[in-house]
Amino acid sequence: MSKLIESLEAKRVVPLVQSDDPKTALKISEALLAGGLDVLEVVLRTDAALDCLEAIAKEFPEAHVGAGTVLSAEQSKAVIERGASFIVSPGLDAASVDVASAAAIPILPGISTATELQQAWNMGLRTVKLFPASLVGGPKILKALSSVFRDVRFMPTGGVSPTNLNEYLAVPAVLACGGSWLTPKEAIEAGNFAAITSLAKEAIAIAQK
Ligand code: 3PG
Repeated sequence: MSKLIESLEAKRVVPLVQSDDPKTALKISEALLAGGLDVLEVVLRTDAALDCLEAIAKEFPEAHVGAGTVLSAEQSKAVIERGASFIVSPGLDAASVDVASAAAIPILPGISTATELQQAWNMGLRTVKLFPASLVGGPKILKALSSVFRDVRFMPTGGVSPTNLNEYLAVPAVLACGGSWLTPKEAIEAGNFAAITSLAKEAIAIAQK
């Protein structure tokens, strides 16, 4: 976990990579890396997602290439086989946590209540995703949860954007924010990968403030 945590602490932003074509996924990743973001979450939301993940992990060994939207133990095993160096899931699934732990791969499951966070804590996890962050209370719920779970660090995701990124990052327990705003569908469809590099640079500039 520590190498991943170091990168998350440095960049504080985790872009989602979603594509139905590995070649496009590589271009998206290249654009994000050019903008300075080196922790990439490839989401399992297309039929080609595992191929995209594998292609990115092979092409950019210097980056932290993880898998997101991982829903089951079976999918956890599949993404580890394809080279994921970390796993993110929308909710908390004990079987997925077991698979990741057995493979010594960091897993950040999504939680949205104190009960789910307590369950994650009792599984030994100290880094979780808050999802969907903006709908379950945003920075306020993070402050409330972190005053109780004092050794937990959060990656809020869901509704994070350049307009509220600094509010999330100002919460001391927030390690990094995730989001799809860095890889807009329109820019990808237009082949405008320079726009993705600009968004990555903008996010880093906000995070460094
Ligand atoms: C996720 O998978 O974490 C969310 O879909 C990201 O939410 P966003 O699209 O609002 O950034």
